[in-house]
Amino acid sequence: MLLLFLLVLFTQNYFSHGDLIADTCEKTEYPRICISTLRSNPDSKTADVKELARIILKAALGKVNTILNQANDLLKKTKDRLVRQSLNVCISVYDEALDEIPDAIANVGTNNSEANIQASATIVDADTCEESFSNTPFKADNNAVKQLAVVALDIIASLG
Ligand SMILES: *[C@@H]1O[C@H](CO)[C@@H](O)[C@H](O)[C@H]1NC(C)=O
Repeated sequence: MLLLFLLVLFTQNYFSHGDLIADTCEKTEYPRICISTLRSNPDSKTADVKELARIILKAALGKVNTILNQANDLLKKTKDRLVRQSLNVCISVYDEALDEIPDAIANVGTNNSEANIQASATIVDADTCEESFSNTPFKADNNAVKQLAVVALDIIASLG
């Protein structure tokens, strides 16, 4: 009897939490990356909506670091002037994102308009990096940064 009770409690809890991720993500422009990002982070299990937004932003920060590392590596290897110029554009805008994204994370829930401004700036950074190349080596990661920032904005907007 007790076991059944615990089981019911557990499943209710489990599913109600599964629903928070699905419900939150389905209201965003990119539900797929939203759901896969949140489900791959164990912190999501106990997170409220604000924390879900922060987890999405941390994932965007991870992608930004990936791009910065690759851009710095490529910069060491290439002599092509135009490619170097483009790499430096990406490095410069994503260096700013290293401040913007933590600032957005810090402001979620306490100053949503400020969080919105910083996450919006990150979208512009991804576009700027992408457009600085005619043939970008960062397409997938730029896309991920952009989509995660859009998802974060959508979640932040839902906080009211
Ligand atoms: C939110 O942050 C902005 C920029 O830092 C600031 O001007 C504004 O006063 C803050 N709003 C609140 C409610 O703290």
